[in-house]
Amino acid sequence: MNIQLWQIKGYSNIPILVHHYHSLESTNSKAKRMAMENASEWTVICADLQTRGRGRYHRKWHSPAGLGLYFSVILRPQIDLKFLNMINMRAALVIREILQTKLTQVDLQNEYPVQLKWPNDILVDGKKICGILLESEILNAEVNYLILGIGINLNHRRRDFPLELQETATSLKLLTKQNWETSQFLNKVLPKLQQKIILDQEAGFRNVILEYQKYLAFKNQVVEIKIQNQSIKGCIKGIDPYGYLLLEQGNETRTISTGDIAN
Ligand code: BTN
Repeated sequence: MNIQLWQIKGYSNIPILVHHYHSLESTNSKAKRMAMENASEWTVICADLQTRGRGRYHRKWHSPAGLGLYFSVILRPQIDLKFLNMINMRAALVIREILQTKLTQVDLQNEYPVQLKWPNDILVDGKKICGILLESEILNAEVNYLILGIGINLNHRRRDFPLELQETATSLKLLTKQNWETSQFLNKVLPKLQQKIILDQEAGFRNVILEYQKYLAFKNQVVEIKIQNQSIKGCIKGIDPYGYLLLEQGNETRTISTGDIAN
């Protein structure tokens, strides 16, 4: 098994230890096993390719070598369970900002806003560029560990996506006509992610929702939401303090805790 290790000096000198593999079934599965064997928080697992990368609702995350950045972070935050959603929302915000900066650096006229599709996707030009999968182990109503798994489409050409995703997915290469080095991108994301997650905990996650709302895709638009086998329609009004979606249906506003926006 091919493994490379490097350490990043993070926020307040808290180390971030990256384990880089050539090939794994899933960085989330590997991180989960390591968390169960007591790996410390801010241990990061990344891989050039995943043979069984997975997304939300057990969907497959297509993970060919070198095209995407695939990584998982072990976290052990001592937080109230009602704030769990804040972790993936913060991760989405950090990656959103880095993508937006890169797009603007390459093209100052860049007219593509990078948006957040509730709960976890990042969109550019209406197409998905990043997905986030947060898995958790809760013991006695406390977090034992979280696995924050992130997949970012960096170097895909259109034909590199499976046929069924070619209309709905994009990559940084498709948008900038450049190749992006996966480890460099990871080294940029991790310190920022660590800093924000630590500061958020200190601040009781006060700013996450405010910031998330600024970039929320489909705000004030009617959308269809798939919840298990059901589908409901409504107008997106925003996000509540715990990260749930506020959906207006006639005179009523419903709070949606889980589901997928079908648009
Ligand atoms: C989604 O959009 O449904 C979430 C996709 C998450 C994919 C990442 S890639 C790295 C990590 N390992 C996995 O198996 N999944 C996540």
